[in-house]
Amino acid sequence: MTNFSAILISWYHENKRDLPWRHTKDPYHIWLSEVMLQQTRVEQGLPYYLKFLDLFPSVFDLAAASEDQVLNAWKGLGYYSRARRLHATAKHTANDSQGRFPKSFAELKKLPGVGDYTAAAVASFCFKEAVPVVDGNVYRVLSRMFNIDSPIDKPSGKKEFFELASVLIDQNKPDEFNQAIMEFGALQCVPKKLNCQPCPFVESCEAFSLDKVAALPVKSRKIKRTVRYFNYLLIRQDNQYLAVKRNDDGIWANMQEFPMVETSDKVHDQQQMEKLKMKGVPFDFVVGESRDYQKHVLTHQHIFYTFWTATISKKVDAPFKFYTKAQLNEMPFPKLLEKFISNL
Ligand code: ADE
Repeated sequence: MTNFSAILISWYHENKRDLPWRHTKDPYHIWLSEVMLQQTRVEQGLPYYLKFLDLFPSVFDLAAASEDQVLNAWKGLGYYSRARRLHATAKHTANDSQGRFPKSFAELKKLPGVGDYTAAAVASFCFKEAVPVVDGNVYRVLSRMFNIDSPIDKPSGKKEFFELASVLIDQNKPDEFNQAIMEFGALQCVPKKLNCQPCPFVESCEAFSLDKVAALPVKSRKIKRTVRYFNYLLIRQDNQYLAVKRNDDGIWANMQEFPMVETSDKVHDQQQMEKLKMKGVPFDFVVGESRDYQKHVLTHQHIFYTFWTATISKKVDAPFKFYTKAQLNEMPFPKLLEKFISNL
């Protein structure tokens, strides 16, 4: 067991990337980086990490920002619930704990929006508590090394991996062990395009000896995807576009969008859209042209979306707001709309 840790940490020292959050023990910085890196690759998350520290140098700055500012800075990183959770945790920490993060895994987990993974990362990297981080990288490494085919998306599987990692973790260097095992999963023990020959565990990896590296880790269920159809209305007035805040509690809650009518299938023509249009905004307008539906793929949803031009017959006033392209560029839109706005 100690051998595993020693080999892993030695591999880490030879192969690790130089990443800014590895040069700090500041809980705000570590927490921020780990929230960003969940479900996100390092290359994608790194510029956001730097941008956030620039815009919000302390947890007090982040807490004092408006939700729009936070969502706007997060724009393009996806999984926006993380940004809202991040903001909630920042407010709690700034307002109720004088900006100080708790120092133990158990206390960190009590923070709103902080789960096992983030609590373990902060507790081990900042305070050297010997508690393992278990993310997708770690499931991959351990399932292969020890030939474990328990499903990683079931509570029993999660518990088994957490317990194994708790035994393996280096008690004296839990911070290095945790960084090392994640880095090893990201760079050497990769999901596809396997390259096991240079691996320091090539002799001891059970999955390698059984020729089943590619079959691990195991998930019990396939992702279920819902298919949705979004019809955006491009309502223009004086070269400005009507945009609204999305007020549901789904993935894009509180972000901006164009008025939208969701349908159960594609809308085939203008006449059909004319009948549906008032579901988008409660004032009259004439539906014009549309484009072909495009597909936007998310983890749990396939969204087919299109844009319908629309002409208003009377001038529309408050509470409806129209924005110039330059203003739209500064507002938090989901990625598919951001792409569209940049081509307006
Ligand atoms: N992914 C999640 N946390 C990470 C970290 N600290 N370093 C590199 N990749 C990561």
